[in-house]
Formats: sequence, C-alpha cells, structure tokens
Amino acid sequence: MTSATIPPRSNPVSLPSDASAWPTDRLSDEAVRAIQTCRKHGKAAARHAWQAGAYLSILHARLVKGRKWAAWLHRHEEVVSEDTARRYILLYERTGGRAAGLDGMTLTEAYAAFGITRFTEAASTPPGSNGDGSIHGHERLEADHRRQSSHETPILNGFNGNHHHPVVPNDLEEPADTLAGIGEKAILRAAKEIRQRQNAGRLRRQREREEAARAQRGGKRTWVVTADQRVARCHAVIADPPYGISGEPWEPEDLEGYTREWCGRWSKCGADLVAIFWSQGKLFEGRRWFDESLSGYTFQQVLTWHANNNGAHKSRRWLKQSWEPIFLYRRGGSDRLILAEDKAWSGDLHNLDCYVAPVPQVNYSGHDLKQHPTQKPVSVMRWLVHALSEPGEMVATPFCGVAPCGVAAVQLGRKYHGIEIDERYRRIAEGRIAMYGMA
Ligand SMILES: C[S@@+](CC[C@H](N)C(=O)[O-])C[C@H]1O[C@@H](n2cnc3c(N)ncnc32)[C@H](O)[C@@H]1O
Repeated sequence: MTSATIPPRSNPVSLPSDASAWPTDRLSDEAVRAIQTCRKHGKAAARHAWQAGAYLSILHARLVKGRKWAAWLHRHEEVVSEDTARRYILLYERTGGRAAGLDGMTLTEAYAAFGITRFTEAASTPPGSNGDGSIHGHERLEADHRRQSSHETPILNGFNGNHHHPVVPNDLEEPADTLAGIGEKAILRAAKEIRQRQNAGRLRRQREREEAARAQRGGKRTWVVTADQRVARCHAVIADPPYGISGEPWEPEDLEGYTREWCGRWSKCGADLVAIFWSQGKLFEGRRWFDESLSGYTFQQVLTWHANNNGAHKSRRWLKQSWEPIFLYRRGGSDRLILAEDKAWSGDLHNLDCYVAPVPQVNYSGHDLKQHPTQKPVSVMRWLVHALSEPGEMVATPFCGVAPCGVAAVQLGRKYHGIEIDERYRRIAEGRIAMYGMA
C-alpha cells in the first residue's frame, strides 16, 4: 500500500507545512505509514496517531465528497477501520494541531485526556482548533452520518463494518466491536430502517398536533377546504393541477381534455391573475391549451420555481431537472399591480420571476414536512400569494392537495378557498391551515 518512492521520515511527529498541497497518493502513503508506526510504539503511540490523524484529516477533507472517503477507507480496511481513523483525526483536531502535549502518552491516555471515547460525539469546535481552517472541522466528519453519540447504544459506526486490525495496538484496550462481521449492506439497511422509523415517528407526532388544531378550529373561518367542484369567485387563482408526470392515481388519461375542461370552467372565477404550476415536458402544449381554454385571459409570463434539492434524476441522457414553470395569465382589462413581499419594489429577490425553495421532504418538520406526493413548499405559495393578491382578498386553488397555498394565504391575511377531491388530503389540509395559518 505504501509507495517505495517516499523515504520514511525521520521526525514522525511534525507535519510539513506544505502537506495540505501534497498529491492524494502521497498523503495516503504517509497516513498509512503513520498508522502502522503508531501500532508499534506503545509509549509514543499517541504522537504517531496524532500524525496519522493529521494526514487523514487532510485526506478526509479532500475526499469526503462523492463517497471517495468511503472508498479510501474501503481500500485500506486492512490497515485502519473507519472508527479508528475518526479517532485519530479527532485526536489531531482536539490538540489544536499541536502534538507537543502528547509526549510520552499511550493512545489510551491521549484519548482519555482529549475526551475521545469509543463513540465520541464531537458537537463543538475543539479547544484551539487548527487555526488556519485548511483542515476540516468536526462538522464535516459528522456530515458523513457515520458518527455515534457516546450516550447511545452503538448501532452504526462504520462504513465497512469489518474492522480488521492485522496489528492490534497493544496499549488500546477497547471493548469487542459490536459490529464486527456485519456487512456494509446490512449496516446501510439498518440505517435506512432507523431513518424510516424516525421519520414515521415525526410524521405521527406532527399529524397528531395538526389534527388537534383541526379539531379546535373555530366555526367562523376565513378559509374553506372542500370537495365541492363549483368554481369560487376570487381575486387570484393558484392552480397546481394534475399535469401528467407524477404517476399518481389522480392523473387523467386525457391530459389535454382534462386541462381544457378545468381552464374553461375557471375562466369564470373573476380573478385578475391565474398562476398554473406546470411541467417542462409539456411546456409548449400547456401554453397552447391554456391560451385556448382560459377564455378572457391572456398569457403574461412564465415564472419558475427552482427546487434546489430535487433529487429525481430520471436518466443520464438528461441534465437533472430542478425547476418547474408556473404560467401566469391575466384577465383582459385587469391592471392589477404585482406586489412584493414586505419589501420595497426593487432590488429584492421577491420581485423576481424565479423563486428558489426545496421540495418538502419526509425528514423536514413543520409546514414543509412531506405529507403529499407532489407537495409544494409553503414559501413558494407565499411568494405567489403576495405577488398576486392583497390582504382580505380571496385566493382559490382548484387542486389544493395538502394546501400549502392555504397555509400561505391565511398566514398573509387572505381568504382562501381550496378544492381537493381526496378526503385524506382535505383532512390534512385543514389541520395544516389550522395549525400554521395562525388565523
Ligand atoms: C399536483 S397535486 C397538488 C398538490 C398540492 N399543490 C400540494 O402541495 O399538496 C393535485 C391534487 O389535485 C387533486 N385532484 C385531482 N382531481 C381533482 C379534482 N377534480 N378536484 C379537486 N382536486 C383534484 C389530487 O388529489 C391531488 O391532490
């Protein structure tokens, strides 16, 4: 594993000032050499572990993206386990990048002195952290999701889980590794199950709170969520209709006929502005269908919602899609002005035709916890509600889902009329508006 071209270094406990500029192979060789040396030096092991930690720290910072760090660990599993590598790095970081304090210490003594336990949780910046900022901090290590609290039962703590130690450090008496022999796949499966359990628990608790808010909602309200298909008189329409890409049961077989039908009906709602979420794939058909069936309305512009966390990558033939068009139509004769949110008209993102917000996820909490397959973020709806209507006016959504638009409208002092065909989503929508609308 080590390179024959690099001579052993005479002073093994200082870090060359240019180490962070070394090629990855050289860093890797030096790290491996330091790890192996550390195992042979009972009374000076801490200083060698510190040096291993220094090299590993640079390597980790360089490789942590794109799972290259995991791949490095996998390649060197005969030399060092992920756990051990992590402790070496912590030792380096917790000394503030200075090895002097480790003189004569065994590894066990050093770990005790710097508070590094078998499953150390490094929540804060270490005392006197490395100073120049070139070496990664603890957060980055934690961001690998391979860290375990010292107070928890260790369930997951390593990438490979094999933990081979050809040379057992003679001064480090550790308890038997509870994960020894467990394969990587099994660990990842267990991690996934844990995440799913946590998400399900979070969802259940949030639903209970929303349901309680729903039960307490007053009789007289400024909002309604209904299955009644009748068109509501309103000042603005924000529609997120079925648009043929979700594969959900509500998608119509005849998208064009379906779209023309609801557009035709809603042409009579009286709104000045109609915003329609749509897909890139049917961009041009959509424009034609809306132009022809939203009678009395004319196309104004296409807005975009940029979902900066969109993970859906359907094919490597395509660049990843991260935005959705929102068609904006204006009723003939309407001279309504677009309003900016709480800001002066110019110089702020709120005035732009593009809004950036992540897609709701199952591991979020609050009003963007995902409870619907095609849920939109509340902030996008706030952007639209603000731009298209004024306080006290009526905003309608013909396909409201779990009503992010309802939450936004009620938060912003508008009246709200949401129509949703699915009883489950109506119930959730009511709970969410009752809980987050604060009106
Ligand atoms: C694209 S989703 C809207 C998601 C919503 N914006 C949200 O963030 O939760 C379309 C919704 O329209 C509902 N839907 C389908 N046909 C409908 C109809 N005729 N009337 C009312 N809702 C309908 C579906 O059940 C689905 O929840």
